[in-house]
Amino acid sequence: MWHIESSARDENTLLVNESLFTLANGYLGVRGTFEEGYKENFKSIRGTYINAFYDITDINYGESAYGFPKTQQKLLNVIDAGGLEVYLDDERVTVFSDQVTYFKRLLHLDKGYSERIIKYKTKLGKQATITFKRLVSFDSKELFAINVDIQYQGNVKIISTVSADVTNFVDSHDPRVNHGEHQFLNVTHFKHKNDTSIITCKTKRSNLLVTCTSHDVYNKECESTVETTKDHIIKTYEFSGDVTFNKYNIYTDSRRHKDTIENGLSILNQVKTKSFDDLLHSQHLYMSTFWKYGDIVIEGDDALQQGLRFNLYQLLQSVGKDECSNIAAKGLTGEGYEGHYFWDTEIYIFPVFLMINPTIAKNLLMYRYSILEEARGRAKELGHSKGALFPWRTIAGTECSAYFPAGTAQYHINADIAYSFIKYFVTTNDLEFIEHYGLEVLVETARVYLDMGFFDKGSFKLNAVTGPDEYTAIVNNNYYTNAMAKYNMKWAVRIYRLLENHNSRYLGALKDRLSLTTEEITAIEEAANHMYLPIDEELNINPQDDTFLSKEIWNFKETPDAHYPLLLHYHPLTIYRYQVCKQADTVLAHFLLEDEQPLDVIKDSYEYYEQVTTHDSSLSSCVFSIMASKIGDMDKAYNYFIETSRLDLDNTHKNTKDGLHMANMGGTWMSIVYGFAGLRLKFDGVHLAPKIPKQLNGYSFYVNYKNSVLRVTVNHEQLEIVLEEGTDVAITLYGEEINVSLQQKYIKTIERDD
Ligand code: BGC
Repeated sequence: MWHIESSARDENTLLVNESLFTLANGYLGVRGTFEEGYKENFKSIRGTYINAFYDITDINYGESAYGFPKTQQKLLNVIDAGGLEVYLDDERVTVFSDQVTYFKRLLHLDKGYSERIIKYKTKLGKQATITFKRLVSFDSKELFAINVDIQYQGNVKIISTVSADVTNFVDSHDPRVNHGEHQFLNVTHFKHKNDTSIITCKTKRSNLLVTCTSHDVYNKECESTVETTKDHIIKTYEFSGDVTFNKYNIYTDSRRHKDTIENGLSILNQVKTKSFDDLLHSQHLYMSTFWKYGDIVIEGDDALQQGLRFNLYQLLQSVGKDECSNIAAKGLTGEGYEGHYFWDTEIYIFPVFLMINPTIAKNLLMYRYSILEEARGRAKELGHSKGALFPWRTIAGTECSAYFPAGTAQYHINADIAYSFIKYFVTTNDLEFIEHYGLEVLVETARVYLDMGFFDKGSFKLNAVTGPDEYTAIVNNNYYTNAMAKYNMKWAVRIYRLLENHNSRYLGALKDRLSLTTEEITAIEEAANHMYLPIDEELNINPQDDTFLSKEIWNFKETPDAHYPLLLHYHPLTIYRYQVCKQADTVLAHFLLEDEQPLDVIKDSYEYYEQVTTHDSSLSSCVFSIMASKIGDMDKAYNYFIETSRLDLDNTHKNTKDGLHMANMGGTWMSIVYGFAGLRLKFDGVHLAPKIPKQLNGYSFYVNYKNSVLRVTVNHEQLEIVLEEGTDVAITLYGEEINVSLQQKYIKTIERDD
């Protein structure tokens, strides 16, 4: 199924639909609001966002302490150019009117646009069909275009507005949503001439500029007037009979454009020569290229298939494609988590793009490289003599987390970022990238672990950190953090030696720049070799940290359903006192670093943590799905997978209105590829061990490996691997090496656990 659709007109569904029907291209995102507006008093979250376009606000602590970040960045809701009201013989058309005889909206995942069809019978009994189409262009990233086609015999009035009267959304009841300042833009330039409106706004503290250059095009003669207020341009057009009306809105910001007004006008001049059909055609081409090696198919369940494609589509729409942007926890679809970038990128989203679009994946790494200087500054603030500490959440590079126990204390962010650099290297073999950027990141992140850790009875230990599970905070020796830090450090040493052996021309300069010595490399290696990884012999599991198992288990039986997510109903201290996990932690470490532990420990740990995990975080179910596949429980793997697949489409976490859960969307794809199919990317190559849950008839997906593209198809009888492009690939399949070449497809009987 290549589209989603809805006919809903009730307020709750409409808010959710605003997120679901978002259109974006990585730079610009527009929520799926209605051009013509809503009923009075309906609190729509009408949002237009530019990735990484932010303002700065103070963080007000009741009690502050040394090293707490003083300010925060917030993604801004920018100028609204989506307004188009339609009047038929002076009767205003809204979908809420009883005069509507048909209403449907669609988002086309294969063609990259959305559409709304409204059939309307006026009070005089005359029929009209109004079709809105809109797109946010992948080719001209600044363009948000709207097309409205009106079939009506009578007077048609269209009111087209551009408004700088915009604020961010506020929800004082939910800590995951903005609850502070919400008005950030001041108008600095305002002009209307020849159907083109220009509004420029400046942010209050970051001093960034955004310009919206909006131009109306229509296919017949009309009467028109323009009215302006201090922050609105309102254009009224009166037509007789059927009309087609286009509105081309160009968004330029000063983070990417030298002169937002000049650049906006010149981009407009290029795009306004194109018809809306031309634009649709380009979108279609872009999407066809994306799906060619990006599609993932499951046979036997249309609803899940729809969820999968929808999730991938939304990831593509929200992922930043330039160096100053990344992918926010809610992408460009809403304001939850204030547009911040988290580890979600590296652990949940990067792995998807690495396999289906390595260029985008590389860009995500370049973004991290671009904020290395800020991370160095942060490491100093935290008392580290050397190295870089990446922010837990940020837009422009500085730490934006105001609650350090579940923020800055998550030192694993460093190893998560390092992990993605390593996976990029083993998958692409891009030595040049590693020489120029990778080693520097690996060393700078590893240095922080070396600095914060210490040797105790022969083991290297890391104290006072928070692992991924945010229901447990500030602990010693979080298994995930220690294991990931070990990997980070080992690879810093490995890449260093690799470059040394290659006589890399750049190594010397990098060593000078970082004051890096062979002694320090040896010290990193020593620490990694002796990294303490907690194990409980009796339970045969890795304890989440030094004290986790000594706590009382949360009373799940007596916790009413309405009290989930716990974070909205209990003080953090209450939660911290118990064995209760918000999300996968040790289980995630076992997925990312499966060779650290024998299978029986992985299995017993899975079973243990499953009993104490609430999955209150949407980053959890996919990991449990992947690991259920690993330990051979395909029913569970399937059940967790279905939770991820339609999490937003069915609003199962009840906060989709604040934006889509990007990490989970990556997790859906990973549940199939890393889960069912057992893909692993290791130093010695690609590993696969496909299984299939009985509930599905089959699945297939693509893998990009060292410039070759493989298609893997699995059903209950056999698996097939086809090399679509590139040179032969050696694969470790169920532990045995095979070779896949262009000449012949590889077919094998599927292995079963039963
Ligand atoms: C999760 C974090 C995640 C953040 C943003 C939180 O609920 O616990 O792991 O990074 O959401 O998605």
